[in-house]
Amino acid sequence: MAEVQFTGVRALVTGANRGLGLEISRRLGLLGMTVVLAARSGYEARDAADRLKQAGVDAHSTILDVTDAKTVAVTARLLDSQFGGLDVLINNAGIMVDSSVPPSELDLAALRETFETNVFGAFAVIRAVLPMIRASRFGRIVNMSSSLGSMTLIGDRHSPYDGAVSPAYQASKAALNAITVLFAKELRDTGIKVNAACPGWVRTALGSDRAPLSVEEGADTPVWLATLPDDGPSGGFFNQRKPVPW
Ligand SMILES: NC(=O)c1ccc[n+]([C@@H]2O[C@H](COP(=O)([O-])OP(=O)(O)OC[C@H]3O[C@@H](n4cnc5c(N)ncnc54)[C@H](OP(=O)(O)O)[C@@H]3O)[C@@H](O)[C@H]2O)c1
Repeated sequence: MAEVQFTGVRALVTGANRGLGLEISRRLGLLGMTVVLAARSGYEARDAADRLKQAGVDAHSTILDVTDAKTVAVTARLLDSQFGGLDVLINNAGIMVDSSVPPSELDLAALRETFETNVFGAFAVIRAVLPMIRASRFGRIVNMSSSLGSMTLIGDRHSPYDGAVSPAYQASKAALNAITVLFAKELRDTGIKVNAACPGWVRTALGSDRAPLSVEEGADTPVWLATLPDDGPSGGFFNQRKPVPW
């Protein structure tokens, strides 16, 4: 697809100050999109946007904590007033607070905290921007999920992910997958595509430096889903551009 096709496409990326969110922002920007980098820290959001501007990207910033309804509403108003709407949402912000904790030892507080960001936060952002995406001619929603949230793989003792024990994180991504399918179903008669992306195991603060993939490699599938042609899939779950079992 020619780069010029994405000029005028407006994208919001949550958790864009570092890790995969920053790399996805950079890639969408280099494809010609106007990118609004959203982060909890206004300073970090601005700093990240400034760095992308130096690389030639039409980058902007906004303060957004996905668990804070006020900043979600302020971001939606900014998109409307400053950019006239939104086309692409990358629901990237996410946390993992329960590495190597079996479910029998998981604090309810950790489960709640994880769901607040990874599920309720992602849902709140979709709800806030969906009216604008409905008005777009190129609506794409990408929810950053994980193969660790695949119900099929969680229950498969031969899965490469069998050793992963992060129940709050895994349950939150399974819930996010369900939300992905539910929105895709509601929007199936529109041109809007809603998909879940697994970036693979990527070297970020969340993924650790033991991960095999770079952020450049991890950003491939979410960027592909954000730029799908009109006959592309919706309501799917993908890693390396291939379906992941639910
Ligand atoms: N890395 C992997 O191997 C891997 C694998 C599968 C899926 N993923 C998913 O990919 C996404 C990005 O992860 P990453 O690896 O890039 O992790 P990361 O480097 O730890 O970045 C996480 C981002 O989420 C932001 N964030 C956390 N809570 C937030 C909130 N309440 N509101 C707004 N932003 C918030 C962080 O902001 P602060 O800087 O303010 O903390 C940061 O920008 C996550 O959804 C993660 O689950 C990652």
